[in-house]
Amino acid sequence: MKVTVVGAGAVGASCAEYIAIKDFASEVVLLDIKEGYAEGKAMDLMQTASLNGFDTKVTGTTSDYSKTANSDICVITSGIPRKPGMTREELIGINAGIVKSVSSSLIEHSPNTIIIVVSNPMDTMTHLVHKTTDLPKNRIIGMGGALDSARFKYRLAEALGAPISDVDGMVIGGHSDKGMVPLTRLATRNSVPVSEFISDERLTQVKEDTKVGGATLTKLLGTSAWYAPGAAVSGLVQAIACDQKKIFPCSTYLEGEYGLSDLCIGVPVVLGRNGIEKIVDITLSDAEKAHLQESAAGVQKTNGLLEL
Ligand code: 2OP
Repeated sequence: MKVTVVGAGAVGASCAEYIAIKDFASEVVLLDIKEGYAEGKAMDLMQTASLNGFDTKVTGTTSDYSKTANSDICVITSGIPRKPGMTREELIGINAGIVKSVSSSLIEHSPNTIIIVVSNPMDTMTHLVHKTTDLPKNRIIGMGGALDSARFKYRLAEALGAPISDVDGMVIGGHSDKGMVPLTRLATRNSVPVSEFISDERLTQVKEDTKVGGATLTKLLGTSAWYAPGAAVSGLVQAIACDQKKIFPCSTYLEGEYGLSDLCIGVPVVLGRNGIEKIVDITLSDAEKAHLQESAAGVQKTNGLLEL
């Protein structure tokens, strides 16, 4: 199993590190445009192999896409991250050109690859890959919901005073500060609905804290987060590589599901060796449907800024 990660910045390098430590891939290729940067990060990661006990081979390359040839999975993290006070949507001007060029170069050397988009604004960047490449829709995946759900679970555990291993929850919708739809109605603490433990007011706070989870960290860090984004995308890579058939909320191209068409937005999907193997059409409340429709309108508005 060969995985390429484009962008050896904090998110890409964290993703590569988690993939290596989980040791399910034979090879991870890190690619960056900055001279020597990917090579250095790869070498540093390989020098943890004996310490972290993995045999995955991590290599780096400066912009040589031939080194990515025949990758089973390609992760696109390249582009600029947001600064405090910025929205993800404000990154479109620079990141759209990068993502279009990177996806084209990846597919040229790995025509059968599965692409996972992380670069922001992620739903629109995922849509861009759909519109500018010939990859089938099951092999174009946007990573946002897995990260947002991890933040949701973190906030739920905090509110419950419970271990995160006892908590489950999912966030669907757009990966944007206003567009996320945390499904508090379906969240559980060891199969018990969280509403049995937390007041509506507190649950509302959990939802709001989840939606600005990225912005909260950007304000603290001065740049976008990287540990949780890297870990979230490594989980998608593992589900595909190991054919796990796990359900994740991922940004995927919809053609009528959830009453939405011609956009990529976060909905529950089954991930396996063929990428998105099934879009799971769960029953939503009227309020959740309305929030998802609003979220879709926001994604469509950002998509409208693309010069396709
Ligand atoms: C985040 O929410 C980078 O969009 C990513 O942290």
